[in-house]
Amino acid sequence: MAKLTNQIAFITGGGRGIGRSIAELLGKEGAHVIVTDIDLAGAQSVANEIEQKGGKAASLALDVSQSSQVAAVMNQVVEKFGRIDILVNNAGIAGNPKWVDEISDQEWTRMFDIHVNGSFYCLREAAKVMKKNRYGRIVNLSSCAAVTGLAGLSHYAAAKYAIVGLTETAAMELGVYNITVNAIKPGVIRTALTDGFLELAGSVLTDATPVRRLGDPIDVARLVTALVSPEFGFVTGCSYIVDGGFHLVTEMDKTMLKMLS
Ligand SMILES: NC(=O)c1ccc[n+]([C@@H]2O[C@H](COP(=O)([O-])OP(=O)(O)OC[C@H]3O[C@@H](n4cnc5c(N)ncnc54)[C@H](O)[C@@H]3O)[C@@H](O)[C@H]2O)c1
Repeated sequence: MAKLTNQIAFITGGGRGIGRSIAELLGKEGAHVIVTDIDLAGAQSVANEIEQKGGKAASLALDVSQSSQVAAVMNQVVEKFGRIDILVNNAGIAGNPKWVDEISDQEWTRMFDIHVNGSFYCLREAAKVMKKNRYGRIVNLSSCAAVTGLAGLSHYAAAKYAIVGLTETAAMELGVYNITVNAIKPGVIRTALTDGFLELAGSVLTDATPVRRLGDPIDVARLVTALVSPEFGFVTGCSYIVDGGFHLVTEMDKTMLKMLS
């Protein structure tokens, strides 16, 4: 039997990229997937695809940076299904690379509104219903930018570090209700978000990655699907790097590896 049969899974930013892949895999594993996105057409096409493959799905428009919208959409789902078993906070933007002293208030705030506030609003509303049902699995998308920072994207990196703080604290508070909260830190994954960057740096990054390839959305989706399954109840408050080993390799390691080969 599929691992997530009849579970209600709520995903943000599910209309494309990593979110799309997560939604599809959760659907394949038997979850009833509520695909939300600021881009409703994207969410609809993913929900349709899940249904065409025999799964269960619905689509809803949701801008995660709007607190009242998050509450209204979550309420709608709870009224219909009575519960939310799985929340995946995936919606995100990359922002334009800039020196830290050139980032405007607006750019900084937008980054935090979507990544930090959005993850918090969704986690808060989901936690209310999960606590009542004494069950929940939450996964937040952080980033390898929250491992050593990321030059040119200080607002993005700061927001992704904040998501780890939210994850660890919520894990401590919610564990007693059988709710787990984990984070994933993807490295470079091939999506529209990384398109431009990969044109410039794709081959250099591939060479510097121990497994000699870039990530695909499915690499992240597989880990999310494991973390949200009922048997992962003893794993909480963790942040998992999904980057083919890239974060380990320093210039010193590169020299040593060259000497060995
Ligand atoms: N691609 C990577 O290399 C990578 C690496 C590390 C972390 N991540 C994180 O993974 C997540 C998904 O990234 P992706 O590469 O699939 O990006 P993507 O741009 O392909 O998809 C992001 C999705 O989020 C939606 N979205 C944007 N703003 C929104 C909002 N305010 N409310 C709701 N939805 C919104 C978009 O419409 C889109 O469907 C993001 O949180 C991103 O920061 C990605």
